[in-house]
Amino acid sequence: MTEQSKFPKDFLWGSASAAYQVEGAWDEDGKGPSVWDEFVRIPGKTFKGTNGDLAVDHFHRYQEDIALMKEQGLKAYRFSVAWTRIFPEGRGEVNQAGLDFYIHLVDELIENGIEPVLTLYHWDLPQALQEEYQGWESRKVIEDFVNYAAVLFEAFRGKVHYWVSLNEQNIFIQMGYMLALHPPGVVDQKRMYQANHIANLANASVINKFHEMQMPGKIGPSFAYTPNYAIDSNPENVLAAENAEDLMAHYWMDVYAWGEYPIAIMKFLEKQGIAPTIEDGDMELLRSAKPDFMGVNYYQTATNAFNPIDGVGQGKMNTTGKKGSSEESGVPGMYKKVANPFVDRTNWDWEIDPTGIHIALRRITSRYRLPILITENGLGEYDKITADNEIHDDYRIKYLKDHVAAIGDAIEEGCDVLGYCTWSYTDLLSWLNGYQKRYGFVYVDQDETQEGSLKRYKKDSYYWYQRVITTNGANL
Ligand code: BG6
Repeated sequence: MTEQSKFPKDFLWGSASAAYQVEGAWDEDGKGPSVWDEFVRIPGKTFKGTNGDLAVDHFHRYQEDIALMKEQGLKAYRFSVAWTRIFPEGRGEVNQAGLDFYIHLVDELIENGIEPVLTLYHWDLPQALQEEYQGWESRKVIEDFVNYAAVLFEAFRGKVHYWVSLNEQNIFIQMGYMLALHPPGVVDQKRMYQANHIANLANASVINKFHEMQMPGKIGPSFAYTPNYAIDSNPENVLAAENAEDLMAHYWMDVYAWGEYPIAIMKFLEKQGIAPTIEDGDMELLRSAKPDFMGVNYYQTATNAFNPIDGVGQGKMNTTGKKGSSEESGVPGMYKKVANPFVDRTNWDWEIDPTGIHIALRRITSRYRLPILITENGLGEYDKITADNEIHDDYRIKYLKDHVAAIGDAIEEGCDVLGYCTWSYTDLLSWLNGYQKRYGFVYVDQDETQEGSLKRYKKDSYYWYQRVITTNGANL
């Protein structure tokens, strides 16, 4: 029996990717190097030394990929633009050949009835800007980012209606400046909070530019939101969860929505001498920018417990796919992460929690009263291709089904959800986990040897999502 759909008629059933993870063609048609093109060449930085030189060759196969989307019935495709295709050195003359690639991509999507969702920045900063002024650590990046964005706004005015400003600022900043797992590979919290503040100013400036240019459409950041729980009702653990939510979530989302940093966190950072330097006019700028939606990348929740001032610090992440290999982690004096006994985990130790996305949507709706675009959600797992080229990813179907059901419930309760982009459309290169951690509806014959045939095969989840889209989420 088909149930009644809980989703609005024009709901954007989508899927996502990012330039560096799919395109390849890293130096074609005048593209300049990005910080990732350099970083992956440092020995030991990525799983088995993988890089995005070729990735899944979407640059040359985008028409084939879009044909698969069309056949599936996809309503929206979120992709990112590589800044260094447009400006090989970050600024200066537009590289027309680079821009043309995205013009063709967008036209192809539109011709096939698929709404493009364009991410301006998914981590591939021009290397030239990193070298010249240390990228996000200099206020000079604000002007360059706005200038780059304005070129895209003009090029796609009236064609692209959904824009994502920064993808997961919380991730690229923390991975880049606290964990040294992303470029520029720094461990320095003072520099981290400063770079983050500058990224906030850049984000606000781009949103303001979009509105000043009276762009038809909507723009917002995509935040990697991991809702925080307390392990139990021990008040000390509840406070730890509040600390985690303030430090790891409100520290970004409050700035996006209101232009304010959480008070307790600023005090905490000031005490340690790592608070960002805020100049005259900064807060006014942050307050003036109004995102049209909150973009949310949701994968998991985090459960927290009390962590004394001399307690646990940052532990190692699991990037090998060996279940249980991630280390204990926390912020001394604030919280530590503990295993949630009520949920299952992936082989990369990510907690599987569909109710968490329901909670995420409710919290964001209550706190910010903004529409929400789910810009990523998905399951990274080992997939096996059979001798008949089939991929029976029932575990992924279950993950997505449970999350979509939870989103439907949140919509019924009044959350304004514009769309849902799964991560990812095709299999792609995971920044730190190579190709063995797969996310796509479409299997790509590519692995860590980077010598695969690059052939595409539809997984079982491809057909499942097709049905979901046809029934507008009524038949999961
Ligand atoms: C998000 C990113 O953090 O999660 C994606 O926006 C990324 O680019 C995805 O690939 C999944 O993460 P991972 O580490 O499993 O590839």
